[in-house]
Amino acid sequence: MNILVTGGAGYIGSHTCVALLKAGHKVIVADNLYNSTNQALDKIKQISKEELTFYQIDVTNESAVDDIFTNHNIDGVIHFAGLKAVGQSIEIPLTYYYNNIVSTMVLAKACKKYHVNRFVFSSSATVYGDNTVPFVETMNLLPTTNPYGETKAMSERILTDIAKANPEFSVALLRYFNPVGAHESGLIGEAPNGIPNNLMPYVTQVAKGKLEKLRVFGNDYPTMDGTGVRDYIHVVDLAEGHVAALDNLKEGAHVYNLGTGKGTSVLELVKAFEKANGIEVPYEIADRRPGDIASFYADASKAKRELGWTAKRDIIAMCRDAWRFEKKYKDLVESK
Ligand code: NAD
Ligand code: WQD
Repeated sequence: MNILVTGGAGYIGSHTCVALLKAGHKVIVADNLYNSTNQALDKIKQISKEELTFYQIDVTNESAVDDIFTNHNIDGVIHFAGLKAVGQSIEIPLTYYYNNIVSTMVLAKACKKYHVNRFVFSSSATVYGDNTVPFVETMNLLPTTNPYGETKAMSERILTDIAKANPEFSVALLRYFNPVGAHESGLIGEAPNGIPNNLMPYVTQVAKGKLEKLRVFGNDYPTMDGTGVRDYIHVVDLAEGHVAALDNLKEGAHVYNLGTGKGTSVLELVKAFEKANGIEVPYEIADRRPGDIASFYADASKAKRELGWTAKRDIIAMCRDAWRFEKKYKDLVESK
């Protein structure tokens, strides 16, 4: 199939392009490179030994999106393009609502006009809010504490309503848990600008000596060792989940958790990183981070049942591959 991948130069998008090309699909990437560079596109080609088509456009731009649908016989859309920094979304909510909601509507409109009935959307476990764990797709969504999470819940509702009105439209709403790691080649991975907010990129930068020590946000949560528990998922497993979702689309809107179903605490992740890579990660215990919840992980059984997909890579592989990328590729980028 010809798949339009919005945000395909980004962290999860680039790994998904590799998985799509490997599965024999043709890939058309639309990305404004706001949070990525076109080097990722070269690396996708290098890993997959396949070509792809790239448009540097903003997907909120209706006529630019229309041009892509005119130029290519698009069979399906995977919509990754979006802004994703939770804290920043509180400071500039309008930018988040505009970018994340308008992009979804522009793409849905183009799909309607060009009779494209396959759509896969990047949602987030953040839409569950403070529900009880494990998070199951049938749960009522609770309000999130930030505009970013609201844009995901709203986009899910918009796409669900469109699918209700057009029975031929098939949408998979994929709720990712905590994506980490990198492609095993070390050529693509997560490269946040500035000081990372998320745990794994912070840990890799401490390991490299770029940051002095990790601050563990809270050790008094009601968890096995008092530190926060999350469901970390290897980004390559996540990418493969998108291919499975595309292959198993069915009419209507269907929600799937993409997680491992297993919770790992902050200290367990630090220990796993040290074991996987033979490097010490200095840390200190700090206050809880406002807005954090103690623990969340997926009930991952629906994706297994309906998509035939499960995450295969363990926490050691996630730590090993994240570190390989930090060492190998980011040196090349940062030395330029
Ligand atoms: P990323 O920032 O690495 O990738 C997003 C890409 O979209 C970037 O390349 C950026 O330049 C592009 N983009 C943003 N707005 C655009 C626009 N208007 N037009 C064109 N391109 C645009 O982020 P990621 O981690 O790969 O996340 C991909 C998607 O998955 C996002 O929608 C994100 O909200 C969602 N998600 C991410 C996580 C996570 O922890 N990384 C978790 C759950 C959901
Ligand atoms: C994980 C754990 C922290 C940094 C966020 C978004 C979510 C989704 C994924 C997009 C927590 C602890 C972290 C540090 C620490 N993104 N931590 N020291 O908050 O679970 O989820 O990314 O959809 O919406 O909210 O991920 O990696 O920031 O934190 O102790 O320097 O690591 O307290 O327990 P989070 P995270």
